[in-house]
Amino acid sequence: MERIPILILNGPNLNLLGHREPERYGNISMEEYLIFLKNEFQFFEIDYFQSNSESELVDKIQAAKKVYKAIVINPAAYTHSSIAIRDALLATQILTIEVHLTDISQREAFRHHSMISDLCWCTIKGFGLEGYKIALLRLQEYFNIN
Ligand code: DQA
Repeated sequence: MERIPILILNGPNLNLLGHREPERYGNISMEEYLIFLKNEFQFFEIDYFQSNSESELVDKIQAAKKVYKAIVINPAAYTHSSIAIRDALLATQILTIEVHLTDISQREAFRHHSMISDLCWCTIKGFGLEGYKIALLRLQEYFNIN
């Protein structure tokens, strides 16, 4: 069976997962969790990209259309501010799932609004790293993979 190419895209400071505010974001790095995800979801070809730079994230989204069937994105702090990431997703028109480790609706008011939620097929928040697994399970349903 041909594997379905999926992009997981993480925004600023998520390179520090495992060390950054561990009481909030946990003590497992994204790299460690990716090993689990790739093993668990072998029918997906999972690529991972993280950047602290808004422009790099925009470039990656623009390029994604030709390569991937879906994006799982956690824009981190850019969630709340980036019209550029919103516009890139609008321009790209690719199936997108938004993930947040924390429940942003239960945190500071400035985190309540997401610039991209209305463009996403669904938003998963508050489940820590498991949110990425839930996103891939949703994609498994979407692509009718049993
Ligand atoms: C986050 C929530 C954002 O508000 C924050 O800026 C992050 C991480 C999350 O995954 O919970 O960096 O996207």
